[in-house]
Amino acid sequence: MSSKVKGVILAGGLGTRLYPLTSITNKHLLPIYNKPMIYYPIQALVNAGIEDILLVTGGNNAGDFLRLLGSGKEFGLKHIEYTYQKGEGGIADALKLAEDFADGNKIVVILGDNIIEKSIKTFVDKFAGQKEGARILIKKVPDPERFGVVELKQGRIIKITEKPKKPKTDYIVTGIYMYDAKVFKIIKTLKPSKRGELEITDVNNEYIRLKQMHYDVLLGFWTDSGTFESLLRANNLVARKTKD
Ligand code: DAU
Repeated sequence: MSSKVKGVILAGGLGTRLYPLTSITNKHLLPIYNKPMIYYPIQALVNAGIEDILLVTGGNNAGDFLRLLGSGKEFGLKHIEYTYQKGEGGIADALKLAEDFADGNKIVVILGDNIIEKSIKTFVDKFAGQKEGARILIKKVPDPERFGVVELKQGRIIKITEKPKKPKTDYIVTGIYMYDAKVFKIIKTLKPSKRGELEITDVNNEYIRLKQMHYDVLLGFWTDSGTFESLLRANNLVARKTKD
């Protein structure tokens, strides 16, 4: 089997937390300082040396991604592949659409609303050298209850809890996930959560159960940008960095 690492960007969903900003356009086309949101995850994958990228989009104005990004030439890519997620079935539901694209290779998945400061190349290289399993990037944040919260024991992740009311730690799972080809088998076993979604946290907990989950702590700033507050924070962080 080939050992190529491919990239998947998940930009589906309806972005309802940002209404009315997202009532006539797609969340991932909104501005983060001087660029559309979707530019940042693409650049993050390109900087990590990934050349094959699938963009999973959905909701409103999906055709605008094609008009904006075209073949991906602006990012130095030969081409970008596109697919469409109907509805808002969850992150794992969107990832399911990448099975044929992955074609048995390892994948690095990044959420379309995640904005990072530093390159993730070292972590992607470590993952490429990993025999099997998954690798996630975690980060200490002041508001862990908004995310998947990580419990660690003797240097290993023992559990991830999605949006707990009382988080046990300040460490959360960022929207950057690396998986071997098993991920698609795992997704097929998932049942929708209370919020009616196929949860990526359930996928990650399965890798933990298999003792095949590895992690690194992400360096530099990280934020999502799917709420008014985090969208503003993302804009400010990028503006400050760009002006430096
Ligand atoms: O940002 C990191 C967090 O992302 C993790 O800590 C959580 O464990 C994970 O569940 C997720 O949390 P959110 O609930 O904040 O995810 P959200 O629904 O905002 O979706 C984030 C991105 O995922 C969105 O910008 C596009 C993609 N997505 C989401 C859904 C629900 C899809 O492509 N399809 C979907 O159906």
